[in-house]
Amino acid sequence: MKQIKIGVFGCNRGGDYFRSLLANNADIVAVCDKDDFWLNKAKERLGDGVAYYESFDEFIEHPMDAVLLANHFNEHAPYAIRFLEKGVHVLSECTAAGTMAECVALVRAAEKSKAKYMLCENYPFMKFNREIKRVCDEGTLGKILYAEGEYNHPGDGQDKSFPQRYVPYATHWRYFLPATYYVTHSLAPIMYATGANPIRVTAMPVYAPNQNPNDIVGTHNGDAAAIITTLNDDDSVFRFTGCATFGAHHNAYRVCGTEGQIENLRGMDEKIMLRYNKWSKPAEMETANLYDPQWNHKDEDLIVKEGHGGGDFLVIQEFLNCIRQDKKPPFDVYFATRMSAVAILGGRSMMERGVPYDIPDFSKEEDRKKWENDTASPCYGPNGEEPTLPCCSHPDYKPMESQLNRYYEAINERK
Ligand SMILES: NC(=O)c1ccc[n+]([C@@H]2O[C@H](COP(=O)([O-])OP(=O)(O)OC[C@H]3O[C@@H](n4cnc5c(N)ncnc54)[C@H](O)[C@@H]3O)[C@@H](O)[C@H]2O)c1
Repeated sequence: MKQIKIGVFGCNRGGDYFRSLLANNADIVAVCDKDDFWLNKAKERLGDGVAYYESFDEFIEHPMDAVLLANHFNEHAPYAIRFLEKGVHVLSECTAAGTMAECVALVRAAEKSKAKYMLCENYPFMKFNREIKRVCDEGTLGKILYAEGEYNHPGDGQDKSFPQRYVPYATHWRYFLPATYYVTHSLAPIMYATGANPIRVTAMPVYAPNQNPNDIVGTHNGDAAAIITTLNDDDSVFRFTGCATFGAHHNAYRVCGTEGQIENLRGMDEKIMLRYNKWSKPAEMETANLYDPQWNHKDEDLIVKEGHGGGDFLVIQEFLNCIRQDKKPPFDVYFATRMSAVAILGGRSMMERGVPYDIPDFSKEEDRKKWENDTASPCYGPNGEEPTLPCCSHPDYKPMESQLNRYYEAINERK
């Protein structure tokens, strides 16, 4: 099997993938992080024989076949473009692009490049989502009409470890993200399973800021969730969240067709419920089938050791296989930028209390022209540029001073 020389940009989330890269016969030749906290952690884990860079401009000059981009959420596209221009294959963490203009620029760069582009979207490879896709592909659900996706992560307001690991400073993207933006973990699994592509989006906010003055709160987004709906190119409809914080924690998906429906059951780990009507069930099935899906994969022992229910291992394997076998990646630049556009335009819809927006088809030049100069962003830019969009449906919302002080105390204790 050909060894692929890979670089890793951003060593916090990037470090989660080291084992999966090595287990899939990639050679990690260089890593880069400007934060020596994460660069030192990478050195501890990878040891000698790897080049360590603080500067991106030096890192990009290191010879490599492929790169994993795990830098800030809203800053992937400009770096992806630079690697694509050099002919280096790109695996980019979510989101593909932070603005509509970046979606356009990224698609243009990917079309010009000989290298492959894939979004590093791991949730479709979780065990229950693989099963949902397998059943959709089998065809027993009939024509797919409707699907749901929920990525729901409420957090304990007293837990210091979350801001310490994930929000190291107050202008970090995690504290300025509208509730529609972190959408790929709820949307990609249902797009992948059904093959449907959103063409029109509308979103409603669920405004519910944390009212406990003693909790650690730094976010400028007081929306607990966005409830997003899309009309799709095959006449089906999706309903999903971005990153939501309501009720109890779960990742939940449901797909309904003319003949039956499948879902993973909330609160029951990976259990699947597959149901048909009496008149539409396949001969060998019951009307209600409750079961634990299986991996049915030769690398099961390795998959189960990795994060996000094994999705981390499989997304890396998929990317490397696409390079080795010269295949089109499942989450290519069109799939990836369509999701970014749903996140961005869903955010605008939410601010306008549900006004619908059409999702552009970035393969068409007329749609690109319409959005190529739209650089508005709710996040701080790489050089401290101020946000140009609100991140909350109540734009004047701010965390309480006591909550912010608790946040500063927590990050000052970061080890
Ligand atoms: N797929 C998943 O399950 C999953 C899980 C966690 C995070 N993520 C994604 O991974 C990405 C990274 O997440 P994170 O929590 O590590 O985010 P982060 O923004 O806190 O960390 C990014 C890292 O990149 C480094 N970096 C950024 N710009 C740099 C530059 N110009 N030069 C050198 N270093 C630079 C930073 O120092 C930091 O250590 C995000 O897009 C996030 O959404 C995905």
